[in-house]
Amino acid sequence: MTDNFIWWRDGIIYQIYPRSFADSNGDGVGDLDGITHKLDYLKDLGVDALWLSPIYPSPDVDFGYDVANYLDVDPKFGSLESFDRLVKAAHERGLRIVLDLVLNHTSDQHPWFVESRKSKDNPYRDYYLWRDPQPDGEAPNNWLSIFGGDGWELDPETGQMYFHMFYKEQPDVNWRNPAVRQYMLDVFKFWMERGVDGFRLDVFNAYYKHPDLLDNPPARLRLDPMMLAPFFRQNHINDTDNPDMIPLLNDLRAILDAGGETYAVGETFIGGADVAARYIGRDKLHAAFNFDFLKCGWWGHAFFKAIDKWEKLLDGVDAWPNYVLNNHDNPRSATRYAHGEDDQRLKLAAALLFTLRGTPFIYYGEEIGMRDIPLTRDMVKDPIGKRFWPLMKGRDGCRAPMQWSAEPNAGFSPPHAETWLPVHANYPKRNVLAQQAEPGSLLNWYRRVIALRRQHAALRTGKFVPVTRGTNFVLAYQRQNEDETLLIAFNFSGNRQNLALEDDLASQTWEMLLSSTRSAMVPFSGASLSLEPNEALILRPVK
Ligand code: GLC
Repeated sequence: MTDNFIWWRDGIIYQIYPRSFADSNGDGVGDLDGITHKLDYLKDLGVDALWLSPIYPSPDVDFGYDVANYLDVDPKFGSLESFDRLVKAAHERGLRIVLDLVLNHTSDQHPWFVESRKSKDNPYRDYYLWRDPQPDGEAPNNWLSIFGGDGWELDPETGQMYFHMFYKEQPDVNWRNPAVRQYMLDVFKFWMERGVDGFRLDVFNAYYKHPDLLDNPPARLRLDPMMLAPFFRQNHINDTDNPDMIPLLNDLRAILDAGGETYAVGETFIGGADVAARYIGRDKLHAAFNFDFLKCGWWGHAFFKAIDKWEKLLDGVDAWPNYVLNNHDNPRSATRYAHGEDDQRLKLAAALLFTLRGTPFIYYGEEIGMRDIPLTRDMVKDPIGKRFWPLMKGRDGCRAPMQWSAEPNAGFSPPHAETWLPVHANYPKRNVLAQQAEPGSLLNWYRRVIALRRQHAALRTGKFVPVTRGTNFVLAYQRQNEDETLLIAFNFSGNRQNLALEDDLASQTWEMLLSSTRSAMVPFSGASLSLEPNEALILRPVK
């Protein structure tokens, strides 16, 4: 790379849900060797780093987000040796590895908790948040679990209750205990020494609770379906976002910087872009997720509002934005936006993701437009779905096996295996091999836009200059650095739309770099640029 290419800023991070990416041993569950075999595919796609959802030993109540040992690999995924092989093979190809650290809570099978629950005076008792119930048997405070019900679980043996923000099998640790804090920081060092390049911190802003575990006050009433859930009727000022998180991030950043440039991106829990912004900066995290795109309807103005807010929040701050259309907790963008098997909207969404000022994250299978698998009650694996069906179906839909080919089991597992979740019925047509062979496929579009981002520094680090403030259907902006200005325009509707250009933009002659709907365009100049239905168009000035 010619200019100063910083992988976590200028590059693209690809999220792998290891259970579902590639199964090398035929047990129906993906594994690390499976990932290693697919590195050339990922390199060819053009990504720079792989974020692996948790790979540690886990009883899988929350599919790896309940960790029983932070310093090992679950046998279903491989071993520390297969992990070392993956890191080596990835590095040989210039791909970085980002691990998911789940440090807000452990599994109830973690040796700490097994000890902790034995007695009130067990040396590990204070590793978790244990309290007496109130005299009437009620919980110590009003905190709830985001997965439903009370956040406090009574342990009949000792008569005390422990707090869990997630499932009861995921007790929250006590970060105020210096031994816990030290151990957790050592976990980072352990993996850094094994060659890891970065970390994704699961629900990091929930680590520190109010020291006196005060009740949460009620939330302001909003017209929002989330308000139906008791959890969202509280204002979570005492169980999240405690100021004591900041000194921890300062210490963590010193550790990360001491090991070269090790990256950290935080999963901002509950809070929006404004909360994420608080935690990013030179002595804090490199990045914190902004999930606004996951909630945008298919409107130019909806996306513009999210981008504009994020740009303004981080303006003048030494912090870098990021954009996410998909992850393992939400219905896929293809399921949210596409009509049937049509991929035009997904091409537009990808062009948006890769031409914004911010690190793009891709979720496995997004590049081939994988849709969520339809779920029936008996298939559900995610406890959210098990508990709340049919009100909530859980997150299994977006976690189905990667569709590699038209072979039985989509080439994810050998044909005879029983995959842990079913493969989507559309795999005979929608798969990597088929899309590699089809020049106009979504996969090839991803490759082309990613390659364009690589060629043009303006697309990575240039200024973001809005052209429209987001009309219903049209969104347009410039990306600008000292060397060049690119004009990027999107038509969110199924009809032709005109983009109004003013002043310099109107007097300039533009030529097409890339369009998602047409193969060529005569150089254009004027006050009104016509966009084809569903088009994403990238232009540069004719010199
Ligand atoms: C994060 C993860 C989610 C998990 C939860 C509890 O939100 O993304 O999958 O269930 O944390 O660890």
